[in-house]
Amino acid sequence: MAFDFIELQLLQRQKEGLYRKMHCAQTKQGRACVFDDKTYLNFSSNDYLGLASSQVLINAWNEGAQRYGVGSGGSCLMTGYTEAHLLLCEEIKSWLGVESVVLFSSGYCANQAIIKLLFLARDSQNNNFLFQDKLNHASLIEAGILAPCNMKRFKHNDLAHLDLLMSQLNTENNNKLIISEGVFSMDGDQAPVQALADLSKKHHAWLMLDDAHGIGVLGDEGRGSVFCAENNRPLVQIYMATFGKALGVGGAFVAGDHSFIKYLINFSKGYIYTTSFPPAMAYTISASIRQVRKDQWRRDKLNALIKHFRSFAKSHHIKLVDSITPIQPIIIGNHNAVMRITQSMKKQGFWVIGIRPPTVAKKSARLRVTLTVNHDFKDIERLVLALKNSINKEACQHQ
Ligand SMILES: Cc1ncc(COP(=O)(O)O)c(C=O)c1O
Repeated sequence: MAFDFIELQLLQRQKEGLYRKMHCAQTKQGRACVFDDKTYLNFSSNDYLGLASSQVLINAWNEGAQRYGVGSGGSCLMTGYTEAHLLLCEEIKSWLGVESVVLFSSGYCANQAIIKLLFLARDSQNNNFLFQDKLNHASLIEAGILAPCNMKRFKHNDLAHLDLLMSQLNTENNNKLIISEGVFSMDGDQAPVQALADLSKKHHAWLMLDDAHGIGVLGDEGRGSVFCAENNRPLVQIYMATFGKALGVGGAFVAGDHSFIKYLINFSKGYIYTTSFPPAMAYTISASIRQVRKDQWRRDKLNALIKHFRSFAKSHHIKLVDSITPIQPIIIGNHNAVMRITQSMKKQGFWVIGIRPPTVAKKSARLRVTLTVNHDFKDIERLVLALKNSINKEACQHQ
């Protein structure tokens, strides 16, 4: 029978305890969420700065829709690049000081498009080399696997390993691209961006950073992992970041120099052959950027919450990873244990998603706790006590 692997693989997923299903949220993003008519404190949102449901952005969306309508009517090279899109690109350029920018409907599409653009069928002599941090997002790793390039994955944040892999190439004339995340999505730790930039220079490579979880949260005016005030020269050749996390909306952008962006507009199928996101959305993202730049209090509050979570969790002997970002995973190991803890947290009124393989490596299943500006200190203390209770119960019952 055609495609009979479908049923087989679904069954297999169920047997292994790795089956996934959707949960339908009945409220907007915020401190609490409602699923199946039950209310939970939400510790699984990427809306780090609490902007997704802010009245300013809701008003901007309404205003954008009144001005430009809700649909773009085509791809960027047809009718889909509106004044709202142009103004958004200008907003990003003045925020980050980058030379040129293009917009994508999602970070997933942007990452796939960049890797395919640079590596697909470009070089019959196989001189294309892609170096990726082992923990990079699936959108990057998958594109690298599919593209006809030599992809090597270096150990997480291990520059000595990356240096070694790059030193094994015998010519400077290869096309070499290093890709790392700024803030790792499932671990919350950060890449050593300056050291990566130095290494890329040493090996005549380009460096790309996916800063989906750094933008808005880190740096002066929320400029993210690269464009801090003290950096007045570009550390990376390609910068990708999304609007769907700290910026509270959706979509993504890619920044680079004029010729790279012109090349992308002319040759990237992932850019050319798709309808651009709605102009009302572009208008809202511009409003979000202005908010992110001026609302330093959001980052200050978030940092205070992160500090409080870490010290309160440590005082209750909960083992944390080395992260100063809103992503504060608690690594459990066994994925069935993680799902039982998730259930126990639900019973206590907390929405904390369990992350299992293949999203993370085998035996490193975890609770991905994320903190947002919508929380307060008391929420965090209640979370920690519930976590302690659930983790201890799991340890007692299943050892
Ligand atoms: C590091 C990273 N890159 C890219 C993406 C994809 O972004 P988007 O959700 O806009 O497709 C995500 C989000 O899931 C991510 O965590």
